[in-house]
Amino acid sequence: MSGTPDRDVAAVVDSVVDVIARSAPEIRAALPGRRVESGTDNPSGETVMAADVYADDLLADRLAAVERVGEFASEERESPADVGDGLAVAIDPLDGSSNLRSNNAMGTVVGVYDAPLPASGRDLVGAAYVLYGPITTMVVATEDGVREEVVEPADDGVDRTVVAESVTLPDDPTVYGFGGRVPDWPPAFEAYAREIESELKLRYGGAMVGDVNQVLTYGGVFAYPALEDAPNGKLRLQFEANPIAYIIEQAGGAASDGVQDVLDVPPEGVHQRVPLHVGSTSLIDRLEDALVST
Ligand code: AHG
Ligand code: MN
Ligand code: MN
Repeated sequence: MSGTPDRDVAAVVDSVVDVIARSAPEIRAALPGRRVESGTDNPSGETVMAADVYADDLLADRLAAVERVGEFASEERESPADVGDGLAVAIDPLDGSSNLRSNNAMGTVVGVYDAPLPASGRDLVGAAYVLYGPITTMVVATEDGVREEVVEPADDGVDRTVVAESVTLPDDPTVYGFGGRVPDWPPAFEAYAREIESELKLRYGGAMVGDVNQVLTYGGVFAYPALEDAPNGKLRLQFEANPIAYIIEQAGGAASDGVQDVLDVPPEGVHQRVPLHVGSTSLIDRLEDALVST
């Protein structure tokens, strides 16, 4: 779809975001009875919960049917599907599903790429996430900026209320959350973490969307870093890291794999993992300095 007028690209992004918003109350309502394992593993070798399957099936059907969506890929599916002619959509249908049992935050993440998958983050033309917290909110980033909406079920579908027109990270960062076991962190990351924990408050909930939304709201840094035995970390470039990097950068923050902007990481595979560090620009600059100087 390269070469397509911007207004057409924007219309497809809007349609994709509409589907995500319309589906959010249904995904939320489906969670209580689906807090059990489905019996299968996903292509990343992780346990798939019944709620992951529900969200994936619902969104796959609906997104594939969107006009001018040409390719669809999901964290839960081996290969992208050719669904017509147009933009490529990549989703993490349910982020943080290991929080189902403990009833903590979860989300849905989507990235819309104007290139075949796996694509560079530079080909993103829009990204969004839903946060299933005490309130269902949706954060949408396009080339025009970032907005936050509250999404509520309504008789005829959903009610969407824009609660922040132009979201930017605050100037004074206050929170941080880092994934992985401390003994598994490389020494340079641990040294950085020791500095950060003396400056900011820990906020880690185990769902990237929930933890990133704290950083977007209060300023700070979220990371799922490289680990000693997992040098690419845990999060997936196409479904998680790129869309989150795009959203945080459009909100005035920064995103790094440790040495470069996440959006510049060369795409090599649909399920490829990448270390992710996102948040306030000053803190990501310091992270890169800390990792590069060792
Ligand atoms: P998913 O549920 O889509 O597989 O993603 C889980 C991810 C992400 O949400 C979170 O940042 C990270 O896993 C948490 O990992 P730990 O449980 O190892 O902290
Ligand atoms: Mn995830
Ligand atoms: Mn997931």
